[in-house]
Amino acid sequence: MYDSFKRRINYLRVSVTDRCNLRCTYCMPAEGVKMLSHADILTYEEIFEVIQMAVSMGIDKVRITGGEPLVRKGIVEFIGRVAGIRGIKDLGLTTNGILLEEFALALAGAGLQRINISLDTLDPVKYRQLTRGGKLTSVLKGIDAALKAGLEPVKINCVIQNSSDEPDARAVRKFCLAAGLEARFIHQMNLGEGCFTIVENGHGGDCRHCNRLRLTANGKIKPCLFSDLEFDIRTLGIKNAIEAATGMKPEKGTSNSSDFFHNIGG
Ligand code: 5AD
Ligand code: SF4
Repeated sequence: MYDSFKRRINYLRVSVTDRCNLRCTYCMPAEGVKMLSHADILTYEEIFEVIQMAVSMGIDKVRITGGEPLVRKGIVEFIGRVAGIRGIKDLGLTTNGILLEEFALALAGAGLQRINISLDTLDPVKYRQLTRGGKLTSVLKGIDAALKAGLEPVKINCVIQNSSDEPDARAVRKFCLAAGLEARFIHQMNLGEGCFTIVENGHGGDCRHCNRLRLTANGKIKPCLFSDLEFDIRTLGIKNAIEAATGMKPEKGTSNSSDFFHNIGG
């Protein structure tokens, strides 16, 4: 699948839920958020059909995101089904790691290949503040479980304020080096203001080489994180929505006033 700027589109990021067991300050607005109603959230069957169609159209890389994907019931079985789709070369998941100690082995057994875990600081007090209540030790145990389950390479997503040389980021880098983890540094973004930059050590944010589409938890195909464009699979049909999103993928991002990270999955 190619977009109108000759970029090959082969990567689909799938948000399976807008819910999360944390409330990171940069992701959820302080006043709280209105969650999608259950009727609006796609069923696993619908998500499966979207992925299947996307793969038949040229997607070969799939990442499951949220919200926090591990809070949705039945996620292991769902990933097992997705892993069985022929044509997916790369199946990954992005998680905050809180529930990973419990899930890592089962996820690997179901066919998940790789995992990205969010970790912005190694200071337990700061972690609790930043996530509005998260326990750092749970994440650390989750990381350990992911390594033991062989979900490698285990990548750490670290959101930074100014530079990857700031103290929290340095500590995360050092921890990753010692533990055999790959660290990626993501500048804190603001969707509405359209401020985004490339991800250090990763692929995000480089519009010229962007190969992504996104599926939101309520069934919109989004061609760009920094755009309000979206195509509803329930009203347009899956194939039309994917084609429209690909055909209208903007050359570069501007701003997105309709989404938060918790419903689009970063
Ligand atoms: N800016 C940058 N990254 C963000 N994430 C969530 N909100 C933001 C933001 N405002 C990241 C999380 C996680 C990934 C899913 O998205 O830290 O690593
Ligand atoms: Fe949850 Fe991730 Fe948002 Fe934090 S950044 S509140 S872990 S979805």
